[in-house]
Amino acid sequence: MNDLQDQHQNRINIAIDGPAGAGKSTVARHVARELGYIYIDTGAMYRAVALHMRRLGIKPEEADRAQHEMNNVVIELQPGIDGQRVFLNHEDVTDLIRTAEVSQLASSFAQLEGVRSELVRIQRLLSAKKGIVMDGRDIGTSVLPQAEMKWFLTASVEERARRRHAEWQGQENVTLEQLMHDISARDKQDETRAISPLKQAADANLLDTTHLNVDQIVQLMVEQARLRMDGEQ
Ligand code: DC
Repeated sequence: MNDLQDQHQNRINIAIDGPAGAGKSTVARHVARELGYIYIDTGAMYRAVALHMRRLGIKPEEADRAQHEMNNVVIELQPGIDGQRVFLNHEDVTDLIRTAEVSQLASSFAQLEGVRSELVRIQRLLSAKKGIVMDGRDIGTSVLPQAEMKWFLTASVEERARRRHAEWQGQENVTLEQLMHDISARDKQDETRAISPLKQAADANLLDTTHLNVDQIVQLMVEQARLRMDGEQ
């Protein structure tokens, strides 16, 4: 079956959740391309918010100020030649949001109700027409609880840090040990926050990607999605 035919099937929404570095965004992007679907990287949205707040000197402890400032944040995701590009108030911030500092800040601002509710509202709007592959922390549990297909990806902390390190080679001077420490701290903050913590949805398929490559995961997900679209699952 080719991409063109896929467009004639019943389109579904696919939710992919999991901790940092589990392979979600790479896999989600490929699955979306195979199915002719739209990929939405919700982590990039939290990162863009974190960058915006940092520029204004707003701290995660200042919940009211942050909530108010959400009125002045416009985030757009656009497909680009080398992956998705992220725009913050029409400025391309794709590279600026991929730093260790913004990663940590994104996790902190993501604890705030005023930030989450606005981003979740946008994420639901974007998914209304189906044909979406969305990755994040709370997609299967909170943003799209009705998604027709849900995955929860995990991998060991060592493997996740190794992947981030390879991704960031040459961009940031950060050691593997530092990344392992940062990722563990972020996991803890994302898993223990009060609102929509990182958690596997009861009806999500659990996949440990430590020993799997991207192609294997994408193939599995695309196969399962096509079965679901054909009504065979
Ligand atoms: O996926 P990522 O590493 O780009 O996400 C950055 C942070 O944003 C992550 O540590 C927690 C937060 N986040 C969230 O709370 N909910 C989401 N759906 C996506 C990301």
